Amino acid sequence: MAYRNLEIGNRGAVRTITVNRPDKLNALNRDTLNELTLAFTQAAQDDAIRVVVLTGAGEKAFVAGADISEMRNFTPIQAQAFSRSGQRLMSTIERLGKPVIARIPGFALGGGMELAMACHLRVASEKARFGQPEINLGLIPGFGGTQRLLRLAGRTAALELCLTGIPIPAERAYVLGIVNQVVAADALDDAVATLAERLAAAAPLAASGILDAILQGGEAAIDQGLEFETQGFALAFATDDMREGTSAFLEKRQAEFKGR
Ligand code: COA
Repeated sequence: MAYRNLEIGNRGAVRTITVNRPDKLNALNRDTLNELTLAFTQAAQDDAIRVVVLTGAGEKAFVAGADISEMRNFTPIQAQAFSRSGQRLMSTIERLGKPVIARIPGFALGGGMELAMACHLRVASEKARFGQPEINLGLIPGFGGTQRLLRLAGRTAALELCLTGIPIPAERAYVLGIVNQVVAADALDDAVATLAERLAAAAPLAASGILDAILQGGEAAIDQGLEFETQGFALAFATDDMREGTSAFLEKRQAEFKGR
């Protein structure tokens, strides 16, 4: 289907979803949130797609937050629905069952930082800036930022970023464990493509098991998390891919995984 605020492209098993409102620094209005939820749901359902890359159009921003001009007129009830729809999108991404990489060329602020944090891996340009500036608008983060930043970077950084509203450079986000890689602006596409191709060649059911164990198991008590891991490990022995991976190792050849 055609999207008004997104561009969708495929390269092999890698789908790229681009938020395409560069004149508004890719700010998230309600339509864009709905389109993103649909686009991710479609990517989840398409067996040919093994990895999703999420990015923003232009060089200046990944996403500069929720759309302030739309949001400022919300009633509290509309604000509640907006927050829930943002949180639903973030959960859809986090639980997609396939790896999602955020490609971050520039500003990832407010809802943009929350969107990046819902992805599984983050690759940033050295020009990128990360922040939760909602407090400057008299607001608090509403798309899961207080919770995901806390879990990714700990209480010290979460309180600093949310209370001061001051954005941090990509290098500091790397030190805090918020991003996986920081690269020169002109190396961003190659770094994302290399990572995406590696993940696209990996065993999809094993990738899905790892995502489940780390993301869902990680929210449980350790004994439950370990049991989660055991179940995922055992399930992998039911797959052709496990037989292919172990055979390929013993036969000293490259494995070819089919997702079965
Ligand atoms: N919502 C709506 N519009 C936004 C936006 C947002 N979150 N972020 C940027 N824009 C719009 C600007 O209003 C401007 O539109 P205009 O040309 O029609 O006036 C356009 O995008 C370009 O932004 P501008 O502010 O002119 O760019 P800049 O380089 O001077 O500043 C930022 C860049 C990111 C520092 C600045 O845009 C900003 O602070 N944005 C808001 C960030 C924020 O608070 N996000 C959290 C929202 S909860």
